[in-house]
Amino acid sequence: MLSDRSRPVIEATLPVVADNIPEIARRFYGHMFAAHPELFDGIFNRGNQAEGTQQVALAGSVAAFASALVKTPEQLPEQLLSRVAHKHVSLGIKPEQYDVVHEHLFWAIVDVLGDAVTPEVAAAWDEVYWLMAYALINQERGLYSARGVRPDTVWRDWEVAERVQETDDVVTFRVKRIGDRLVKTSLPGQYVSVKVPMPDGVHQPRQYSLTRADDGEHRQFSVKRVHGGGKPDGEVSNHLCEQVQVGDTLTLSVPFGDVVLDDSGRPVVFVSAGIGVTPMAGMLSHLVVAGSKLPVTVLHAAADEQSFALRQQVLDDVRALDGATMHVWYENGGESTLPVDGVHSGVMDLDVASLPEGAAYYLCGPLPFMKAVRSSLIDRGVSPHDIQYEVFGPDLWAADLLAEPAPGAA
Ligand SMILES: Cc1cc2nc3c(=O)[nH]c(=O)nc-3n(C[C@H](O)[C@H](O)[C@H](O)COP(=O)(O)OP(=O)(O)OC[C@H]3O[C@@H](n4cnc5c(N)ncnc54)[C@H](O)[C@@H]3O)c2cc1C
Ligand code: HEM
Repeated sequence: MLSDRSRPVIEATLPVVADNIPEIARRFYGHMFAAHPELFDGIFNRGNQAEGTQQVALAGSVAAFASALVKTPEQLPEQLLSRVAHKHVSLGIKPEQYDVVHEHLFWAIVDVLGDAVTPEVAAAWDEVYWLMAYALINQERGLYSARGVRPDTVWRDWEVAERVQETDDVVTFRVKRIGDRLVKTSLPGQYVSVKVPMPDGVHQPRQYSLTRADDGEHRQFSVKRVHGGGKPDGEVSNHLCEQVQVGDTLTLSVPFGDVVLDDSGRPVVFVSAGIGVTPMAGMLSHLVVAGSKLPVTVLHAAADEQSFALRQQVLDDVRALDGATMHVWYENGGESTLPVDGVHSGVMDLDVASLPEGAAYYLCGPLPFMKAVRSSLIDRGVSPHDIQYEVFGPDLWAADLLAEPAPGAA
């Protein structure tokens, strides 16, 4: 809770800080990486820095948190904090690093806002920072402890046991534990961070959703090569798809991620596009292993059947579940050799699918796709509470959704 002394100061300065926070975030990262270049080695994602997406996500999260502290203190943005905490622990972030971020963030605030940062203003924002930091540190401590790891023991080496060229651009890796150590379990829908050495010697981490349920010995994930299209090609995805072979060693974090299957017994609807199929494949695989009787609907959109990664695995799992159905939409025409339940031409249209009452929805794919699906579900009366989504990058949507009026509000 924000103190009575700080609340009016935050209320008064929130608009100016919110307006300037993208610039504050940009200068903060520049200043921090100049002082701590080692943070790029195995911790920060330099692709997201180059694109500016991490700066926007950080700025959005701080503004959303500060705004919640003054407007709805009884309801802090749990979902946003939980996503950040899971991402942090998948990278082994330590509590003492919050002091480093604090130092450089406050340098940037003063650098951008200048004399407007009176001692009173600085103290009030300091309070916001530490409220947010401790909310994260405490959640992260709980996540590490639940997994039985510490920040410096989240990483494990695995041997690549199999690689499958799924499509022109997607490779599935099946990795096997080294030795007979106990493999930490994963929840359906979780991801691992994969850390690889790049040619310049710097290690770069990226997240990949697990695409199969645990068997106590393996993990499986699928990687889509990112083509630059005028910008640089994605460094980790291309490295994995082109360089990493059977027998090689890969370093993976233990699994984390807050978008996980609801086990309350409700029907489940998976809605994905492109490589967004990966968390859905993982959740389906868990349902099969658990012998689930839940009604399951799988809706997937792709350019065509050849570019639909994991299609055989997904269909086999759908067929292994009583009453599960699968519909596909192919932009390049509705042709399918797979015996799915519905093949449609063009972009996904939920009007042609029959959606079960009271279902839990899981979305994954490009942001515009997920925004369109979410709007269409809400138009059909689905509660926002029943829709979870996974973003394959810093979440630039969460802060916008928090600012959205509640359904039914004027
Ligand atoms: C929770 C989660 C789950 C995920 N699951 C999967 C999954 O199952 N499968 C999967 O394939 N992916 C998944 N991803 C995405 C994955 O983590 C990577 O983001 C993806 O593989 C791209 O990484 P990269 O290193 O190849 O690209 P990067 O090198 O990080 O590049 C990303 C973008 O930045 C641009 N860029 C890079 N450098 C510059 C520069 N200097 N100037 C301008 N632009 C630049 C690139 O052109 C590219 O468009 C997931 C992400 C998250 C967060
Ligand atoms: C109160 C302080 C902090 C806030 C508000 C914050 C906020 C965020 C947010 C919003 C994200 C993006 C999450 C997503 O959607 O993927 C993120 C990711 C990340 N954070 Fe933090 N963070 C804080 C502290 C720290 C600290 C102390 C470190 C360690 C130096 C750190 C390192 C990272 C890294 C490495 C990522 C992933 C970056 C990427 O993938 O581009 N953060 N953080």
